[in-house]
Amino acid sequence: MDLSAIPSSRWLPAGTFQDQVAVVTGGGTGLGLEVSRGLAQLGATVVIASRSAEHHAPFLEEAAERGWKAHAHTFDVREDREVRLLAERVVEEHGKVDILVHNAAGNFVCPSERLSKNAWRAVLGIVLDGTFYCSKHFGRAMLAEESGVMLNIVATYAWTGMPGVVHSASAKAGVLAMTKTLAAEWAGRGLRVNAIAPGPFESRGAAANLWPNDEIRAAIEQQIPLRRFASSDEVAAQCLHLMSPASDYVTGECLTIDGAGSLPQPFWNPGTRVERPRPSER
Ligand code: HXC
Ligand code: NAP
Repeated sequence: MDLSAIPSSRWLPAGTFQDQVAVVTGGGTGLGLEVSRGLAQLGATVVIASRSAEHHAPFLEEAAERGWKAHAHTFDVREDREVRLLAERVVEEHGKVDILVHNAAGNFVCPSERLSKNAWRAVLGIVLDGTFYCSKHFGRAMLAEESGVMLNIVATYAWTGMPGVVHSASAKAGVLAMTKTLAAEWAGRGLRVNAIAPGPFESRGAAANLWPNDEIRAAIEQQIPLRRFASSDEVAAQCLHLMSPASDYVTGECLTIDGAGSLPQPFWNPGTRVERPRPSER
């Protein structure tokens, strides 16, 4: 098997997640797909879950070709009952859950004063409610084994804020607080809970909703000190590292992966000398 074909997995030893059962919400597209590919390549049984079976097909087809252990289920993460049934089914079919990646999200740009109640609820439901329902139901399965790793996906605007996405920023801030709360609550019972906060990375879902044309995309890129978006497999590589035994002492942490995009911009031009008037000229 050519490991270089799965860039996100090439930094960890083969078999890192052998015999582990991983659930990835929204695992059929974007970042979720890259994380799922990496976990499967490193030995995990990977269960992806989201609303659309169509989104699951590429991962299932690749898994069949490569001999990965992969499964997919449809569910809506906004429905507590559907999440509970999924968690019960995974335990019934695979005996346990070792890893949960709560990656599912919804987002779009809308001025706050025009955001309808349904629009607010749609995003809060997927991001904040969904992360809690998954944490609770899959958490119960992990607590029964006194072992488990959870990874939540937030965004740097969880603490900086961001005009135009008040629903997503508010929900991600809640998920960040949830990450730290559950990490502290469950650390003594064998669970680790972390988060990552990416800046913009390449994904069709985000592009369609947030940077629908090249002009907007270029303007965002200009605001990133590294002057480019991340690729989804660069972000996935950090997810895999945080979930691996290399991070066994890391919990309640949020790793920022944004090319310094959320740091303050300088007042002066970096690399140039700031000329001061000489004393005689003052
Ligand atoms: C204003 C909108 C809207 C828009 C939907 N709504 N899109 N309002 N502007 N662009 C409103 C609808 O009019 C409706 O309100 C309510 O939201 C629910 O819409 P539905 O289409 O019925 O919702 P649903 O089918 O459940 O779809 C959920 C969704 C959709 C969130 C709206 O975009 C989705 O499925 N997204 C998943 C993919 C995604 O968004 N990926 C991006 C992730 S990137 P009314 O009042 O009319 O009933 C990310 C972070 C990026 O999260 C960070 C970058 C730094
Ligand atoms: P994406 O490809 O659009 O992924 C979103 C996934 O969520 C889809 O697979 C979708 O699958 C699933 N989903 C949406 N609503 C759902 C629901 N109600 N129930 C179950 N699943 C649902 O987006 P992405 O860009 O890879 O984003 C992945 C994660 O990174 C998200 O948490 C996002 O907020 C975060 N993030 C992204 C960026 C970025 O620049 N791309 C930056 C910072 C943070 P279905 O349609 O099949 O349901």
